[in-house]
Amino acid sequence: MDSEKLREHLKKLVDTAGSTRKAASIIKAKFGYGPTHSAIYKAIKGSNTSDFVVSCYITALEEQQLGRRKMGKVVSVANQKGGVGKTTVLVNAGLHMASLGKKILFLDIDPQNNLVISLAPDLAEMSDFKKGSHPAHNINMFEWEGNEPFTPIPYEISENVHIIGTSKLSGNVTQNSIYNLADSLDLIKERYDYVFIDSPPSAGTLQHAALSIADALIIVSQPQKLSVKGVDDLMMTVRQVQRRMNPDLKLLGIVINQVKRPPSKTQTVHVDLLRAQYGSLVFNEHLYDTVRVTESMAEGMSMQEFSAKAAHDFGFSGFSDEFISRLEEGGNNV
Ligand SMILES: Nc1ncnc2c1ncn2[C@@H]1O[C@H](COP(=O)(O)OP(=O)(O)O)[C@@H](O)[C@H]1O
Ligand SMILES: [Mg+2]
Repeated sequence: MDSEKLREHLKKLVDTAGSTRKAASIIKAKFGYGPTHSAIYKAIKGSNTSDFVVSCYITALEEQQLGRRKMGKVVSVANQKGGVGKTTVLVNAGLHMASLGKKILFLDIDPQNNLVISLAPDLAEMSDFKKGSHPAHNINMFEWEGNEPFTPIPYEISENVHIIGTSKLSGNVTQNSIYNLADSLDLIKERYDYVFIDSPPSAGTLQHAALSIADALIIVSQPQKLSVKGVDDLMMTVRQVQRRMNPDLKLLGIVINQVKRPPSKTQTVHVDLLRAQYGSLVFNEHLYDTVRVTESMAEGMSMQEFSAKAAHDFGFSGFSDEFISRLEEGGNNV
């Protein structure tokens, strides 16, 4: 590329980054050395910056923007303990993205099927769904009839929100069928901006399935002993999955859910423990305890849709803003 083209290309990348300041911080994140924002401006204008330096800026910005585009398409939640708020967090994050105009697919792979019962009770009650023959039942993605991947037909909750449900039938899938699930999902995932996977509270095949097809993971924990232990166990699994099975998997962060206002002493101890152990991997914003959560889940609504007061008590907007910025930043290796 000649000098002028290089600078034009840099300008485009800086525009996409949003500002010369943002571009400077992206370059610093890659090289450890960050130009000032005016140095980037000068580089675009062509004064006193070598083509080599401009190319380095370009490399850093391209890498980040490519990662960002690739990033966060398939988001999963996890904790090996049940009842900590995985489904709650997933529903609120997903429906928030839908409210911003994004097209969302929820994929429920927890045989307890809380997600489908909450968001699509009509589907859960259909007799062909109960038998597993409905095209929006995920058992067919795990177990194809022939050698060709099964193409699921998601159930439309609304124009922007579709779901593939599950039931106890998926409880016995084998490790091999994880790849079937991935191939089947590949056939439809380009139709969506995001796929949100609800995963079961156990360290078995289904959790492996979720981790092996996700790009981004949110760990949900309550500030109490068993839930924190679940996080420790899971982090080890995530590291192994990143190394051996799915190098694209990134951890968005650990959300602490159901914090009381004010927190009890034990809650404070466990929040501090999580922060000491995992630092900036822990979301700055907590989610708080409120009875409205159970009510909103029963209605299949996010807390924001349910009521402004409930959303405020829950800490919805702090969480959802941080969720989006973590998604945009691209997540972490652990
Ligand atoms: N922040 C919260 N405040 C009050 N209740 C909550 C909160 N988060 C979750 N719950 C309730 O706790 C129960 C378990 O939550 P759920 O999201 O189903 O957990 P998991 O998916 O981890 O099993 C549900 O009844 C849910 O409504
Ligand atoms: Mg759940």
